[in-house]
Amino acid sequence: CGIVGYIGFRDAYPIIIKGLHRLEYRGYDSAGIALINNSSHLNIYKKAGKVSNLEEFIGENDQTGHVGMGHTRWATHGAPNDKNSHPHQSGDENLAIIHNGIIENYGPLKEELISRGHTFKSDTDTEVLIHLIEDIQSKANLDLREAVRVALNEVVGAYAIVIMSKDDPNQLIAARKGSPMVIGVGEHEYFVASDATPIVEYTKNVIYLNDNEIAYLKKDELLIKNIDNTVQTPYIQALELKLEMLEKGGYEHFMLKEIFEQPRSIRDCMRGRIYPEEGKVQLGGIKDYTEKFKNADRIIIVACGTSWHAGLVGEYLIEEYARIPVEVEYASEFRYRNPIISEKDIVIAISQSGETADTMAAIELAKERGATIFGVCNVVGASIPRLTHAGVYTHAGPEIGVASTKAFTAQVTVLTLMAFYMAQTKGTITQSKLISLLIELEKIPDLIERTLLSNDYILGIAEKFKDSRNALFLGRGSGFPVALEGALKLKEISYIHAEGYPAAEMKHGPIALIDEEMPVVVIATKTSSYEKVISNIQEVKARKGVVIAIVTEGDTEVKNMADYVIEIPHADEAFLPLLATIPLQLLSYHIAVLRGCNVDQPRNLAKSVTVE
Ligand code: G6P
Repeated sequence: CGIVGYIGFRDAYPIIIKGLHRLEYRGYDSAGIALINNSSHLNIYKKAGKVSNLEEFIGENDQTGHVGMGHTRWATHGAPNDKNSHPHQSGDENLAIIHNGIIENYGPLKEELISRGHTFKSDTDTEVLIHLIEDIQSKANLDLREAVRVALNEVVGAYAIVIMSKDDPNQLIAARKGSPMVIGVGEHEYFVASDATPIVEYTKNVIYLNDNEIAYLKKDELLIKNIDNTVQTPYIQALELKLEMLEKGGYEHFMLKEIFEQPRSIRDCMRGRIYPEEGKVQLGGIKDYTEKFKNADRIIIVACGTSWHAGLVGEYLIEEYARIPVEVEYASEFRYRNPIISEKDIVIAISQSGETADTMAAIELAKERGATIFGVCNVVGASIPRLTHAGVYTHAGPEIGVASTKAFTAQVTVLTLMAFYMAQTKGTITQSKLISLLIELEKIPDLIERTLLSNDYILGIAEKFKDSRNALFLGRGSGFPVALEGALKLKEISYIHAEGYPAAEMKHGPIALIDEEMPVVVIATKTSSYEKVISNIQEVKARKGVVIAIVTEGDTEVKNMADYVIEIPHADEAFLPLLATIPLQLLSYHIAVLRGCNVDQPRNLAKSVTVE
C-alpha cells in the first residue's frame, strides 16, 4: 500500500492526489483521502479502484484544508471494496487512520473491543487499530499522542500509519514498524509518505523513520519518539531522487521507458566498479568482507519474484568463477523452515525495493544465526540496505512499472561484478581471463542498445501471438533463469499462462502441452549447450510446436528450424542473461499492449510487497 500525508500552509488536496498517483505502483485496489477543512470538519472520500476513480468520485466536493492524508491500497484483509478502503475512522468519527501493513492480533483485539461496545464498519485490521486508540484515549483519559503510543505497544504486526483528529486539527501522527515511512522536511510544512516519490518536488530534506518510532508533526514542529517514550534525534538526509526520473519522458508506458533505459542503467551500475585494462573489479560496499568470502563455506541467496530469478543467474556466475557453492532460496520458504546456517555462510539478499517483508524476515533470521549478510538493492536508504552488514546498490534509478525490467538487469550486473570480485580475491580466475571478460562487460550496454533496435520486429512477432492462451519458455544453463523471467514477465502483464523450464526437462512433462497453438520461446544462443538446445527445438518441432528462438547474430542452423528468430549480438556466455532478457521483455510488453492490458499496473499485483 502507499501512504501520503501533508501538514503546512499549502492546499493539501493537490499534493495528496499527486502523491497517490506516484505511489499507485504500490497497490491500486482502492484509494482514499482525508482532509480537515478550515472549520475543523473532517472530510473523508474513499473508493474502490484506482486513484483516478477517487478523483472522479470527489468531483466538486469540498477539497479545502492544509492538513490531509491519502492511501492507495493493495488488499490484504477484506475485499477491495469501498467500505474496506482507507481512511478508517474511530466509532465517534473523531479520528481517521491510514495504514500499510498487517495487524496480526487484530482478531482478539476486535473481539475485546466488540465486548466493550464497539461496532465495526469494515473487515479490516486497520479499523480495529483506530478503535483501540479511541478506546484507550477515553478509558485512560489520555491525550491522543499518548493513546497512540500505548496502543502501538499492544499491537503485533507490521505497520506504517498516519492518524488525524478532528479535535486536534493541526497535527498529524505517523508511526512505523516494518513498513516504510519517509518524512519530508520543508519550511513551515512537513510531508509523510511510504517513499520519497510524493515529496521530491517540494523538499530534498528527508528523515527515514526507524522501526518503533512515532512522529508528531505540526506545521512548525516535529517531535520523534520511540514507542517506549524516549525522544529521538532525527537524522535529516538529502534526497538523490530527481523529478524527471519519475516521469514517462515521451514513452507510452513506464515499462517501455525502463526497458529502453537499460544501456544507461547498466552503465550507471558499473561506473567506478570495473577497470578493464587493469583487470580489476572494485566493490567498495563489500571490500571490508573479503576475508569472509575467502573463507565462506557457501553462499545463500534469498529473494522473491524477479529478484529470485536474478539470484539464479548469480548462482551460475558465482559457482563458475568464484567456486563457492551457492543455494538460491525463496525468502518466504527459507524463513519458515529452520534453515541450517553457520557463521561461515554469506547470505545475499536481493530486492529492488529493499522493503519486501519476506526478504527482510529471511535476513533477520540469518543474521540472528550468525551469517554475514550482503544486500543487493535498488532503492537507496530502504530498510534492507539498513538491515544488512554490507551491500552493493544496483543504481538502476526508480523503477515505476510494476513488472521489473531494468532493476532485473542491474541486479544481474551486480551479481556478475560480485562473482568476478570474489574470483579475483580468491584467485580462482586468471588475470588475463578477467581482463578479457571485463573488456566485454564494458561493451554490454552498447550491445543492449543494438538489441533494442529489434523493437519493431518484435512487435511484429507479438501481433502473431497476442491471442495465445499458453506459452512455454525454455533455456539451459544461465538461459534457464532467463526463461523463467521471460515467462513471469509475460504472465504478469498479459495474463497469458506461461511457464519457464530448463530445456532438457521439457520432455519430462511440459511436452504434453505442445501443439500448433503453443508458442515455445527458446534461448538458443551460441553457448556451450547450443547443440543440446537444438535437439530440444527439434523435439518441439516434431510435435508441431511453434518456435520463437533467441539466437546469436548470424546463426543459420536454428534459423532453418525455428518459425521466428530474434537475433542478439555475440558475447561471452557469462553475459548471455543480460542480452537475452531484452527481447523477452519487449515481446511481453507488446503482447500485453496489443491485448489492451495495463502494463504498468497489472491486476492484483503491487510493486512493493511489505506484507508476508
Ligand atoms: C513483487 C513485485 C515483483 C518483485 C517482487 C520482489 O511481487 O511485483 O516484481 O520481483 O515483489 O520485490 P523486490 O522489491 O524485493 O525485488
